[in-house]
Amino acid sequence: MEYFNLKRPEERVSFAEAARRGLGSDQGLFHPMAIPRLDASAVLDMSRFDRYRTLLEPFVAPDFSGTTIDEMVAAAFTFDSPTVPVGDAYALELFHGPTLAFKDYGARFMAQCLARIRGDGPMTILTATSGDTGAAVAHAFKDAPGIRVVVLYPQGRISHAQEQLFCTLGGNIETLAVHGSFDDCQALVKTAFDNQALSSRLGLNSANSINVSRLVAQILYFWDLCAAVRTENLVVSVPSGNFGDLTAGLMAKSMGAPIARFVAATNVNDTVPRYLQTGTWEPRPTVSTASNAMDVSRPNNWPRVEYLLSDNGWTLDARVVDEADTVAAIRSLDALGYTGEPHCAVAYKALRRSLRPGETGAFLCTAHPAKFAESVESALGRKLPVPAAIAEALGKKNLSAEMEPDARAFKEYLLSSWKREK
Ligand SMILES: Cc1ncc(COP(=O)(O)O)c(C=O)c1O
Repeated sequence: MEYFNLKRPEERVSFAEAARRGLGSDQGLFHPMAIPRLDASAVLDMSRFDRYRTLLEPFVAPDFSGTTIDEMVAAAFTFDSPTVPVGDAYALELFHGPTLAFKDYGARFMAQCLARIRGDGPMTILTATSGDTGAAVAHAFKDAPGIRVVVLYPQGRISHAQEQLFCTLGGNIETLAVHGSFDDCQALVKTAFDNQALSSRLGLNSANSINVSRLVAQILYFWDLCAAVRTENLVVSVPSGNFGDLTAGLMAKSMGAPIARFVAATNVNDTVPRYLQTGTWEPRPTVSTASNAMDVSRPNNWPRVEYLLSDNGWTLDARVVDEADTVAAIRSLDALGYTGEPHCAVAYKALRRSLRPGETGAFLCTAHPAKFAESVESALGRKLPVPAAIAEALGKKNLSAEMEPDARAFKEYLLSSWKREK
């Protein structure tokens, strides 16, 4: 499959090139030239493994052979994505991977891709995290031969459980607790990428969420949902921040997945719902919410969503869920016997508002409730059990180094620890 740059359509690259580069010229997003249309009923009847390899092949061939795709699928997707009935709707649980969030899908497949296409030079994955991405990327690249991972995070501003999940790994995973904010971490990463000499010497790659190799892996679980819920009028509510997950859902629909329509569920950071209503793109300052991974006011995947909508002549129902309704939704889910965290609660509430008679609803559960235990426990007034992955990480030593938000110190760190490795 060839990919083109949405900002400069004449720029076309292979899958491997798009995955290596992340972004095209002018910061344009890469997008498949033509999304393959598959025989949906045949795909839904396949085993999960066969389905995954069949769905991925058109996106990654000819860079990867069928045998290699089999190896990558087996290595990346070692966990399940169960669909659970909740009242008359369905929850698609995407938090059964090692870091208990849906980011394990994209990060683990990306690690498989980069390990095979990175070439002979060094590769350093440099990523700033506000909690979840760092963990998924660190686990995905743990022990990847020749790949060094450096994760920056704001010290004291992520939960203890989040920190322990990725700062205790060691080996090729280095973690830096920055005395500053997430923005400071992002700024440090940006200065490193802006330094061409440093970037090529270390083989820097950001592993960020706009990378096509992460996106194509997220298509898979929308098909898992369709395989579990066989209905003609399936409406899927997607908790949205950067709109990567919704992009993957629209790609699945475009391939023929039997999904009637999508609901884009946001918290009060509602640039997209306002845009769809008024036609004016007017980001406002980002507001902190309980569904903090969706505290995004300039969603960087939006050009892909817009392209898919216009290419297919689809419309999108976007709904805003405020903080009080998020808490109410956590309680409604609990009354139905389901423990949900704030992101899935936003999706559930938006679904309830959007669903029409004759439709069957599903909503995505993007993180384990224990990752957002504070919000869930305060909404429900009781303690949550601690899952084994978190309990195990809590008992380990935090291996992070500390750093001031200082570009020169960061560059020295990158070079000195790189030299140590050589
Ligand atoms: C738990 C959780 N839910 C939902 C989202 C939103 O996904 P997207 O940014 O793809 O819209 C994120 C993104 O970071 C997340 O971590």
